[in-house]
Amino acid sequence: MSKWFFINLVFLLVALWKIFSGYIGIHIIFGALGLFFFLYNWTRHAVFSTIRSDISRKQKIKFAKLSKKVLPIHKYTGTAALIFVLIHASFVISLFGFQFQNLKLLTGLLAGIVMILLVTSGWIRWFKTTYTIRIVHLTLGFTLFALALLHIIL
Ligand code: HEM
Ligand code: HEM
Repeated sequence: MSKWFFINLVFLLVALWKIFSGYIGIHIIFGALGLFFFLYNWTRHAVFSTIRSDISRKQKIKFAKLSKKVLPIHKYTGTAALIFVLIHASFVISLFGFQFQNLKLLTGLLAGIVMILLVTSGWIRWFKTTYTIRIVHLTLGFTLFALALLHIIL
């Protein structure tokens, strides 16, 4: 089992704690939906790491089968995550306006830009896979993981 399952679970718990410890407006609901869909897609990395790790052949096959089963919805959940985040951002900007000294807004904006690139690289990967695009898609996933965590804990 990859340590990433555990790391993702900790992220989820921190996010749930942050979300439920304050007032839950409509903008927060869409932010949370974006985050849950992102985490669901990101868990693909944990599954891939597990398949590549030192586990029995039987378990590898089990994980590979599961991975193949969820692949068709990966592109829809990833695109849905972006749509939720864009709705979240529109609500946030119409509610609070644009304050550049607000760290929450700045980290959110950065996360939003990285998410647009991540989903775009995903679609490029879907139509034409190359080694470079595979690494780009994965690196953007890691970057968004860090930025989203920062955005939520700040
Ligand atoms: C990957 C992208 C994003 C994710 C996953 C995300 C997720 C979230 C979540 C779950 C919250 C509620 C938790 C909390 O208050 O700590 C939140 C709050 C917030 N987000 Fe985002 N967000 C993203 C992008 C953005 C963008 C693009 C903006 C700016 C336009 C933004 C601005 C804000 C602000 C200002 C708050 C605080 C709202 C408040 O305290 O009432 N976020 N975000
Ligand atoms: C929230 C957005 C997304 C995240 C976090 C994400 C994350 C990932 C991860 C971690 C992998 C495995 C990478 C590896 O180890 O090589 C992957 C693979 C892949 N992703 Fe995404 N992805 C997202 C959106 C998308 C979208 C919108 C598409 C559009 C088609 C897409 C297409 C693909 C494809 C084709 C693969 C290769 C699958 C395979 O070889 O089994 N992704 N993605």
